[in-house]
Amino acid sequence: MKTFHHIQSVREALKQARLEGKTVGFVPTMGNLHDAHIALVRQAQSLADVVIVSVFVNRLQFGLNEDWDKYPRTIEADSQKLAAVNCDFLFYPDEKEMYPNGMDAQTRVIVPSMADVLCGASRPGHFEGVTTVVSKLFNIVQPDIAVFGIKDYQQLAIIRRMVEDLCIPVDIVAGDIVREADGLAMSSRNSFITPQERPNANQLHRSLSWLREQILAGERNYPALETAAKARIKEAGFRPDYVSICNSKTLTPAASDDLNITLLGAMYTEGARLIDNLSLNLAGE
Ligand code: PAJ
Repeated sequence: MKTFHHIQSVREALKQARLEGKTVGFVPTMGNLHDAHIALVRQAQSLADVVIVSVFVNRLQFGLNEDWDKYPRTIEADSQKLAAVNCDFLFYPDEKEMYPNGMDAQTRVIVPSMADVLCGASRPGHFEGVTTVVSKLFNIVQPDIAVFGIKDYQQLAIIRRMVEDLCIPVDIVAGDIVREADGLAMSSRNSFITPQERPNANQLHRSLSWLREQILAGERNYPALETAAKARIKEAGFRPDYVSICNSKTLTPAASDDLNITLLGAMYTEGARLIDNLSLNLAGE
């Protein structure tokens, strides 16, 4: 695997691959790679000839009081994991390479329709940071396909919308949520969960699964269901941020006759903010 720190060298390597008629698959990450990231890499490998992974802890998408400085940085282990699955290229730029004019002066990309709800409501500016860095990375890599995990459902929906709105020629591919044995969605932030709270940390997944059962049983009072799911999280000793039953495409509150709905939630443990979601197709109910 070749590692690049500079935009110019990534461009040269990929230009060569394209001259050889190869397609390019891309997996953007913030590093601290776990099995879910590696599953995305394998998915990209099944769809493209050459695969490039980026590792960049993008300060622009962290709020001032958030965990940018604490975010786990494990580039040696990441690099080994990628080499072990025969990833072709790793792009590991520093902040000066990505934001040479400083972050305040950086041109921004905003997806106004979905950026201020759900996670965007409690993390102002977060999705603006994500769409800005992802569009820069797309311009650097110019991939044929890019793979994003469904675990970050809102991020995936926003990126799909950005690509559509800005006519960016890349196919966005969704990767399934990879979970621990007890249902907890894998996340780099799971390392912030304390040993004491870990046995119950799958509560967000359990509450969303409970919600799914209620809906499949015919319950359609969505606001009441959301309140009940949040109460379950609270009873387990965690602080719910939100639980929302949404239209899967628009992420607006689902109408009782919507057929494609997604249950999204976020909760705080002592040291982490965890997110999860489940999608349901109610056709044929
Ligand atoms: P990061 O949190 O490192 O995630 C990189 C990719 O891995 C994202 O597409 C995310 O959805 C996916 N992923 C993480 N955990 C997953 C899980 N348990 N199951 C399936 N997919 C999972 O998301 C980001 O980085 C950043 O916002 C980024 C897009 C790189 C922009 O900075």
